[in-house]
Amino acid sequence: MVVILDFGSQYTQLIARRIREAGVYCEIHPYNLAPEKLRALAPQAVILSGGPASVYDEDAPRPDPSVFDVDVPLLGICYGQGLLVLHHGGAVVKSAQHEYGRATLAVDDPGDLLAGLPPSGLSTVWMSHGDRMERLPRHWHVLGSSDNSPYAAVRNRDGTRFGVQFHPEVVHSEDGRQILENFLFNVARIAPDWTMENFVEAACRRIREQVGDGHVICGVSGGVDSTVTAALIEKAVPGQLTCVFVNNGVLRKNEADQVRAALQDYFASDFVYVDASTEFLTELDGVIDPETKRKIIGRVFIEVFEKAAHQDERKRGKRAAFLAQGTLYPDVIESVSVRGPSATIKSHHNVGGLPERMNLELVEPLRELFKDEVRSAGKVLGLPADYLGRHPFPGPGLAIRILGAVNQDDLRILRDADEIYIEEIRKAGLYDEIWQAFAVLLPVRTVGVQGDDRTYDRVIALRAVVSQDGMTADWYHYPHEVLARMSSRISNEVAGVNRVTYDISSKPPATVEWE
Ligand code: XMP
Repeated sequence: MVVILDFGSQYTQLIARRIREAGVYCEIHPYNLAPEKLRALAPQAVILSGGPASVYDEDAPRPDPSVFDVDVPLLGICYGQGLLVLHHGGAVVKSAQHEYGRATLAVDDPGDLLAGLPPSGLSTVWMSHGDRMERLPRHWHVLGSSDNSPYAAVRNRDGTRFGVQFHPEVVHSEDGRQILENFLFNVARIAPDWTMENFVEAACRRIREQVGDGHVICGVSGGVDSTVTAALIEKAVPGQLTCVFVNNGVLRKNEADQVRAALQDYFASDFVYVDASTEFLTELDGVIDPETKRKIIGRVFIEVFEKAAHQDERKRGKRAAFLAQGTLYPDVIESVSVRGPSATIKSHHNVGGLPERMNLELVEPLRELFKDEVRSAGKVLGLPADYLGRHPFPGPGLAIRILGAVNQDDLRILRDADEIYIEEIRKAGLYDEIWQAFAVLLPVRTVGVQGDDRTYDRVIALRAVVSQDGMTADWYHYPHEVLARMSSRISNEVAGVNRVTYDISSKPPATVEWE
């Protein structure tokens, strides 16, 4: 495995993705990882990420000095290169101007790291740095340079320490993937054996070790993460799982039935369906504030789930000792102090609080995976492709897509509009291109005309975004004729709607959901 020490770069997760795409397992750890922990991980190579600081800042994040002595290859990227060069006696200067964007890397000496780059010796790379290398440590040499960076790629004499000024992990660095693979395979000589089949086997082994003959309970929502989590547990310890699916009354049209049918077929284990629509909708009655809605849904979910778990316990005569949860890797990467605590934008609905309250030990088999890897794991587990390709759907459901108070009439309008919208996306063959698409019901009325009559009806906003992970997103550029069909069908077929708008906001400054 490879360890990436994170100095706060916005691209650190991309480094991890590229390495895993190359078939090598890697983990991101904070830059100040304790030396004994690093040793215990026994990495076959270590990468120092970029970061927003300058190596000369007084409070610049620095790793434990023993990191520089690890007896496996080290690659420093941008800020990481600065640290390496400085540590070994070279000089780095804070340049007056940041270099940002495209640059051309000229290969002087391909060595191991730049092997296989275009014969022209030129390659487009992506720079984003404030510090500049001014002098190399003794016996280090240059592999590649650019107009503004004479030391754009460097190595030490025995080929165990490498530094690049640019970011090989971003797609704009056209040979970046090759360079990272060169580091993994030519330099560190790591075998690319991280496959989903191997992951699934290893995850099952770990689940068996953790769970023994104990019983596991898992909340499933129909989403990819919870379904794959449950499927893994089912495979690892068949017969020791209870799945609980709660209908919170704010699911999409026919969703409860569809999810039930799909999951009940798949899981041989106990499958408990709880229709708690009335409870949720009663609690939500008249509530307008988005955060209050989110908190209510989180709380009621926990109450309903707990009740279902106790009933299941009575039925089986044995209490569950474990709670399975679909936590993903981006949620567990310890955020580094260089970035500071981040503000809470929205309280996400999850089962927080349940494990302590019910005294359950957590089982989180997806903790190491990125979202796209979860889909691949689902495929290996034999879950249907169309199920795995479903867009994400938030825990608080349609409650955060009906702006203002939630009631049955508005739920009907939104469900009908959303169904037509998604149907048209599928008909246009665009569903898989879009990260997430949904309709939103606005709390205003506008004047329209239908036939010869004046109407004073509701407005639907359509949202579609492209994204890698939901952290940042751009609005999707539909062909105009597709938008025209969606608008015309929704305003004609959904009673109570006379106007359709399309949301052209990216995240940031907007968020994906409206509440
Ligand atoms: P935002 O609106 O924060 O959404 O830009 C980013 C992604 O997260 C989803 N989302 C949620 N998912 N529970 C979830 O499981 C939640 O409470 C929640 N809120 C937002 C949202 O749909 C998008 O994919």
